[in-house]
Amino acid sequence: MYICSCRALTDKDVGNAIRSGADRPSAVYESCGCKPDCGRCVNRIVNMLKEHKADPVLA
Ligand code: FES
Repeated sequence: MYICSCRALTDKDVGNAIRSGADRPSAVYESCGCKPDCGRCVNRIVNMLKEHKADPVLA
């Protein structure tokens, strides 16, 4: 599932970035080798970061 349509980032890409230590949206983009464009995906990334923080094993 695409999280960021501008940069074609999937939930897998974002999840891998978070598990690799990205702790905020800018770090997720950096880890994926891109920068945000429209910014619509920021809330989705923030939610994934919160889910990971709440349950690091599953999220
Ligand atoms: S949807 Fe991610 S920057 Fe536009």
